[in-house]
Amino acid sequence: MCGIVGCIGTEQAAPILLEGLSRLEYRGYDSAGVAVFDDQAGALSVHKAKGRLQVLSDQLHGGADLRGTVGVGHTRWATHGAPSDANSHPQVSHSGRIAVVHNGIIENYAELKAFLMGQGIPFTSETDTEVVAQLIEYFYEGDLLQAVGRVLHRIQGAYALGILCADYPDQIVAVRKDSPLILGCGQGCSFLSSDVTALLRHTRNVIYMEDGDLAVLTREGIQCYNHLMQPAEKEIVQVDWAVDAAEKGGYEHFMFKEIMEQPEALRRCLSPRIQKGEIVFEDFSLSEDYLQKMNRIYIVACGSSYHVGMVGKYHLERLTRIPVEVALGSEFRYMAPIVDKNTLVIVISQSGETLDTMAALREARRLGGHILSIVNVVGSSIARESDQVLYTWAGPEIAVATTKAYTTQLALLTLLALWLAKRLGTISDADYQAGVAGFLELPGKMDETLSHRDDIQYFASKYFNHDSIFFIGRNLDYALGLEGSLKLKEISYIHSEAYASGELKHGTISLIEEGTLVVALSTFSSLFAKAMSNVVEVKTRGASVLALTTQSHREEMAQTADAVMTIPDIHELLLPSLGVVPLQLFAYYVALMRGCDIDKPRNLAKSVTVE
Ligand code: M6R
Repeated sequence: MCGIVGCIGTEQAAPILLEGLSRLEYRGYDSAGVAVFDDQAGALSVHKAKGRLQVLSDQLHGGADLRGTVGVGHTRWATHGAPSDANSHPQVSHSGRIAVVHNGIIENYAELKAFLMGQGIPFTSETDTEVVAQLIEYFYEGDLLQAVGRVLHRIQGAYALGILCADYPDQIVAVRKDSPLILGCGQGCSFLSSDVTALLRHTRNVIYMEDGDLAVLTREGIQCYNHLMQPAEKEIVQVDWAVDAAEKGGYEHFMFKEIMEQPEALRRCLSPRIQKGEIVFEDFSLSEDYLQKMNRIYIVACGSSYHVGMVGKYHLERLTRIPVEVALGSEFRYMAPIVDKNTLVIVISQSGETLDTMAALREARRLGGHILSIVNVVGSSIARESDQVLYTWAGPEIAVATTKAYTTQLALLTLLALWLAKRLGTISDADYQAGVAGFLELPGKMDETLSHRDDIQYFASKYFNHDSIFFIGRNLDYALGLEGSLKLKEISYIHSEAYASGELKHGTISLIEEGTLVVALSTFSSLFAKAMSNVVEVKTRGASVLALTTQSHREEMAQTADAVMTIPDIHELLLPSLGVVPLQLFAYYVALMRGCDIDKPRNLAKSVTVE
């Protein structure tokens, strides 16, 4: 969602801000803006434009038009007030002295706005953010930090703020509560951003701000304060992501690059965790005592991460015989979940910043659960608030549609299921060894799956004109279908649904008519015969069937289905990990053929930081 950047140094700020904002475009936005302190005019210079960042950049000739070496920038994803120049950030106080960029939502903005308007303060936007700028000005008596402190006592909600004041031309104030903000420590310069990828070109030394933190950025360095406004020492963390990891590297789209990176991401994720035929979590363990008392597992996540949880439930229950509930982050806190100190709560998130998932985590913690998170972004909020973390090490994922994060999350959760089964004694040695051997084959077999991408491209060219597509499957294949369907709809805008095949005759089959495209998933060998019956069922009603199955079932499936995508045979636990790849590619090629904006689908954001 919205993105914040800020910099103070000796170089012209505007080009740096615009370049930083371009790194945040993937998060999703509808307008952009920058504010810099113009030292010759002695005032803030603010420029905003609705639409793509390029519009703003063209207006400012790439930033060359703006003098000044200190500034903040923003990409906005509209919540309060439609996308427009006026509603874009930075929002400025009525005197023009204070400029604010903001991610999050100020929940009590209406009440504060009414108060300020009652004081005769004019407003120019519909945003909640303008309230912050006006309120700082209202409390400002010559001491910026004091005014900000007074505002923080009055605003409620989630916010990451970057604040400029014309009277303080040599500093930027940053504040964080429930919305990510990262500080970059350079030589003679300091930076802020809501995402580490915007900092990598300038520095690898970062500070992850915590909730309630406030920081003052100057050319000489960064001073942090805690929520009581007392100076606080913060750890400077070295980020080890390669600068080009967040670049397209010759690929047309980030999504395609990230699909192709999956075997490598899996090797990074798995190889340190499988040593001499054993699963080893160096960074994580659960005591014997805890394991014996563990009575339930909850998996909490949103979107594709939730779909990982759906597969994980089948694996965990089958292997450990412990009941597993999978809950949507957005539902968890409203459903009176049964969690106690013997419940293991597995929180899954690529970004580590999804607000609903974070809220669920906090609720689970309040209820006493033990929180283990599976996260990609190191140092993210979910990672920091968990009792334990397993990082996926997939590297930066830029495309809104997740691919390599999904496969690494799934691999890690499956590995965890196997590890738990071994510890609980619910798996035989032979089955455990077979599972581990399967993991060793996974990256290579994924390479092989990807090498057949031309077949998928051909199927996409056959079917890209369909308006409605159904995914059906049973058990693991049903969970896989949920992800295949989401992938397709989010980037190609084709209406698509996933159903458990057995449910067809309870309603959905009435939608199947001549020419309806059904993607029939049947990778799970034990249920192949059942899957075939469902294929026949929909074919009889006129559907075109694009099937997905394993190499060993290909021939049989080809006798009935209209087209067949295949994956190599692999250990049953890992079928969804391979099976998702053709579905990702299918979604990608279909979206490409329909001319969609693949990396930045409409209305979507990479990291959903509002409820
Ligand atoms: O960062 P998270 O894993 O918490 O994100 C959760 C969802 O927003 C995310 O998986 C979303 O569904 C993706 N766009 C799907 O491709």
